[in-house]
This record gives sequence, C-alpha cells and structure tokens, in this order.
Amino acid sequence: QSAAAAKICALAPVVPVLIVENTADAKPLASALVAGGLPALEVTLRTPAALDVIRAMAEVEGGVVGAGTLLTPADVKAAKAAGAKFGVSPGATQALIDACAEYELPLLPGAATASEVMFLLEQGFTVQKFFPAEYAGGVPLLSAWSSPLPQVKFCPTGGVSPSNAVKYLSLPNVICVGGSWVAPKSAVASGNWAEITRLAADARLIAGV
Ligand code: 3PG
Repeated sequence: QSAAAAKICALAPVVPVLIVENTADAKPLASALVAGGLPALEVTLRTPAALDVIRAMAEVEGGVVGAGTLLTPADVKAAKAAGAKFGVSPGATQALIDACAEYELPLLPGAATASEVMFLLEQGFTVQKFFPAEYAGGVPLLSAWSSPLPQVKFCPTGGVSPSNAVKYLSLPNVICVGGSWVAPKSAVASGNWAEITRLAADARLIAGV
C-alpha cells in the first residue's frame, strides 16, 4: 500500500488536485501538466464527469492518474474500473481501506490529528495525506509531528500555494504537496493549456527541482 503511494508521491514535488467538469478537457489538461513536469494527477470525484475524465487521462503518455475524494467502497471500485492508478481520500474509514486492499488500489489516506495518523500507521500507511493542511495546523503542526512520528511522511494538501509550498517541502516529513493552483478554473475553461504548463513548470522551480 504505502510503498506504491510513496513511489507516486516521489514522481514530482507537486500533485495537481483537479476538479474537471468537461471530459473534453481531460486529455489536454493532463498533457499540459505532464509537459510542465507534473506527472502524478489527482482527479477528484466531485463532478459527474470525473470517472470519464480519469478514463481519458489514463491514456495520456507519461501521466499517472489517480482518483481523489474517495469516500466509499463504491468509489474505490469505480475509480479502479476507470483506470485510476492510485486513490486519495480526505480522511479514512476501515471500509475504504479494506476496499482499496480488495481492489488493489494504492491509497494515500488523509489524516489531520495524531490519533488519525496513528490509526493509519497501525494499518501500514507510512505515507499519508495531511488534510486540510493550512487549516488543520499547517507547517507548525507537521513540524511538531516529525519528532514523535518520524516514520510517517506526508503530502500536505488544502490551502497549499506557491507562497507556502517551499516551507512544507523543506520539512523532513513532507515528500510532496498537493494543490489545485496549477490548474486554475479560468485557464481550464478557456483552454489555456500553455498557462497550465507554465504553472506546472513554475511549481517545480518553486520546489527547487
Ligand atoms: C481539495 O481537496 O480541494 C484539495 O485539498 C485542494 O485544495 P486547494 O484547492 O486548497 O489546493
């Protein structure tokens, strides 16, 4: 579980979090992000088109497409069938964890408290999403966790932006960050794929890679 999630998190310092309304945008959006150097893509299951978007993005060379906002075993089954290579959830339940094991979908499960981190660690998750990062305690909380919980590495997501990404990425227990800023709604709506490639490349620069 965690080994596969760790590999995906190691692909790039930033995982774009995508809310895509139109399936037609899927391929150009994924291509633009991959071209900018961000291959791991999280498509949130928050739009009616999301599963079709995953299906379309899964065909984009160089991309590794996952499903975000997994809440139920049915979400896991549908995401896997659509071609998702990994899953992301805002929190975690036993049912969701069991479904990801059953369908062999690597999961990046969310945690926001030490007890949630410990519950997930007991289940073997040494890589977790810290959500919603900025609102749950941000850099100071993650920094505090690195002492008692050094074996857990995080992907902070939620309120992460170019102005704070470096601070997160410089923590010893952060392996990547997630964020929607690399694919702004306006750029997607206007088909400004060059802008999205630029934002993706800038995100890599911010992270110093
Ligand atoms: C989300 O679930 O929406 C993600 O955490 C993205 O958050 P962001 O829009 O603040 O980057």
